[in-house]
Amino acid sequence: MLDIKKIRADFPILQELVNGKPLVYFDNAATNQKPQVVIDAIVNYYSKYNANIHRGVHTLSQVATDAYEQAREKVQKHFNVKKSFEIILTAGTTHSINIVASGFTSLLKKGDHIIVSALEHHSNIVPWQMLCERTGAELKVIPINEAGELQMEVYENMLSEKTKIVFANHVSNALGTINPIEEIIEKAHAVGAAVLIDGAQACPHIKPDLQKLDVDFYVTSAHKLCGPTGVGVLYGKEAWLNKLPPYQGGGEMIETVTFEKTTYAGLPHKFEAGTPNIVGGIAFGAALDYMNAVGFENIASYEDELLQYGTEKLSEIEGLRIYGTSVKKAAVISFNIEGVHPFDIGSILDKFGIAVRTGHHCTQPIMNYYNIPGTVRASFSFYNTKEEIDVMVAAVKKAQMMLS
Ligand code: ALA
Repeated sequence: MLDIKKIRADFPILQELVNGKPLVYFDNAATNQKPQVVIDAIVNYYSKYNANIHRGVHTLSQVATDAYEQAREKVQKHFNVKKSFEIILTAGTTHSINIVASGFTSLLKKGDHIIVSALEHHSNIVPWQMLCERTGAELKVIPINEAGELQMEVYENMLSEKTKIVFANHVSNALGTINPIEEIIEKAHAVGAAVLIDGAQACPHIKPDLQKLDVDFYVTSAHKLCGPTGVGVLYGKEAWLNKLPPYQGGGEMIETVTFEKTTYAGLPHKFEAGTPNIVGGIAFGAALDYMNAVGFENIASYEDELLQYGTEKLSEIEGLRIYGTSVKKAAVISFNIEGVHPFDIGSILDKFGIAVRTGHHCTQPIMNYYNIPGTVRASFSFYNTKEEIDVMVAAVKKAQMMLS
């Protein structure tokens, strides 16, 4: 059981007023809030040991390097990864995906197939389209059904020896659907294809065991896990990371440089050119410590309670439709009210201090499927409460009255 009152006290922003009202923060899928320990880790770094890493013999540089590498080990442990150098610290999920998509350019040829799911965020669509343009490979899409679930039988029929790589998210940011990634991975491997799973929306709710999943690449962002923005993870199996070329050239990713030829550093440095987000990496480590102390099983079961409660209360509103009704769902509720634009609902909720996201959520193909311009999306975190859901439901009813 979670002590929500105590947890809420860890997040200074939750004590803030917005538009004169206590903040109700339901935009956790966009980015979640930061506990004091993460804020302290940032302040501490800049006040006590700010220095560049992997470069200096001086004490501060060594302290900063150790803290950064410890953070990498925390990420390794969190995701149950075999070797710490299989964890590349990036600028975020989008950066991680682009490293892999760019790296596959020399591994694909005209006529190869790459498969994406119809539930993807634009960041897991556009880089693969660009890859198709560069290589002549063909993009195939796993369709969804009305509930927002992937049609797995279509996926199975799509796979062939032409399939080289499959991409899917673990959890849909727009609908909350939890995808059957174990099955996606197993079936892709059966035809010899690699798999990349976008875990950006799953990681705040689920702690994945990457060795058990046997996935080739798994990517996520720190800022959805109570960490700072500008830091992300690219996990890749050692063999795959060795096979892919570096994404960016620069300092620290080399072994030797002459004007005739450069040889590259080993993993993980080959993919980490330039000064990284040092403080971000260190604060990410603090965020993982915090979330693991709260406990992912506790988080998942409490958020599920919030999801059930929110779904039930919102469904009582006449004319309200929830998009994404998969049986396996994370704590995300996307909805619309008949005859009302989602943006108008979001603007009125904001006046009540309630933060939700409105629009297409960077998933235009999903919105096109439902033939809607967008939705209002309430996404919950473990520090939210049922009382906050009541506040939102009352505000939605008021908005409905004002707008229709
Ligand atoms: N991908 C983030 C979201 O779903 C930004 O809101």
